[in-house]
Amino acid sequence: MQISLQDPVLASLAQAFPGQFGHSATLFACAPGRLEILGNHTDYNQGTVLSVAIDRFAKVAVAANPQAESGMVCRLYDVKGKSARQFRLDALDRKVPRDWANYIKGIVCEFNALGIVVPAFDMLVTGDVPLSAGMSSSAALEMAVVKALDKLCASGLDWQQMARIGQGAENHYVGANTGLMDQFSSLMGRQGHLIHSDFRSLQVANVPVPQGTSFVVANSHVKHNLTNEYNERRADCETASRLLGVEALRDVTPAQLEAGRSRLEERVYRRARHVVEEIDRVERGCRALEEGDVSAFGALMDLSHDSSRLNFENSCPELDTLVSLGRKLPGHLGARLSGGGFGGITVHLVESSQAEAYARQLEEGYLRETGLATQPMILHADDGAQVLSLA
Ligand code: GLA
Repeated sequence: MQISLQDPVLASLAQAFPGQFGHSATLFACAPGRLEILGNHTDYNQGTVLSVAIDRFAKVAVAANPQAESGMVCRLYDVKGKSARQFRLDALDRKVPRDWANYIKGIVCEFNALGIVVPAFDMLVTGDVPLSAGMSSSAALEMAVVKALDKLCASGLDWQQMARIGQGAENHYVGANTGLMDQFSSLMGRQGHLIHSDFRSLQVANVPVPQGTSFVVANSHVKHNLTNEYNERRADCETASRLLGVEALRDVTPAQLEAGRSRLEERVYRRARHVVEEIDRVERGCRALEEGDVSAFGALMDLSHDSSRLNFENSCPELDTLVSLGRKLPGHLGARLSGGGFGGITVHLVESSQAEAYARQLEEGYLRETGLATQPMILHADDGAQVLSLA
């Protein structure tokens, strides 16, 4: 999408802003959620990922807080959740555990750490990226906020600095030791394209989504929490690279891992194997796409999920059910969990002509096998974060 006040959601934020804060918004920003298509837990191992920014967005409206007496006070309002927050810029260390405002306070801290002074501001927040589902609703919010504050502060940050600010908010404020993939994807999406990111060179390239395919996404409704198990997995990967004598698992080929296997305890070996083979699958996946071999690409997605289930152990029975249901449906090309894991969504690459029927049958099968409801979504590759300044 191209950001403009023609967008009904942004128009409604513009309209609601004066009622909430007593003055008008001057800045609007939107940033998409993402799907991870191939390359699971490879980003913090300096590997590569294929992801896609989706047509689900966090959207914010912002203005400097004009009240002189409240020079230190920022006011936030989440339109969808109908929840208000207020915080002082000189008391950012007062964290409320698991609060949505932490993402915004964490961003302000990262601006400050770069020596950028953020003035008091008012902000309306909304969005349609499903929460705690593995679609990066948090990175979408972070990138919308970063885009808006970058303009408000006239800081002129480049996209990599913006991504690092989001990652910093997660790592330092929220306490999730996540990589850069979510922020890269939210910033660098392009309509109709995948994003091939390299987390060593920090470069990205856009690759066309294969013709005639669609992404069907099913939420298992198992809520994932990325602060404990995620951090444990990351620690295991770091142990593996230390014991193998390399800077990061990026430096290890599947053959080298097998050769060094005796140096690793079983669990650490399986974690490393997942990452090393995922990086290999991303590169093979890119070649398959170049050659127009969509079946080969889909098969790599299936292998990725199997490796999550067996080696990285970041799947769960509900995600496994969604994937195995999908594998039996007409039009199936590949399916896997997407993102951190331990719950959240599965992403299915499906022949477009079958996507509606596939989604319906996934819904029916999931209810039948687990007693749980899911409404699969058909999502499209969209553009990355954008900002609109009225000032
Ligand atoms: C989460 C993290 C990312 C990445 C994925 C797994 O989405 O935020 O940095 O590590 O998990 O690939």
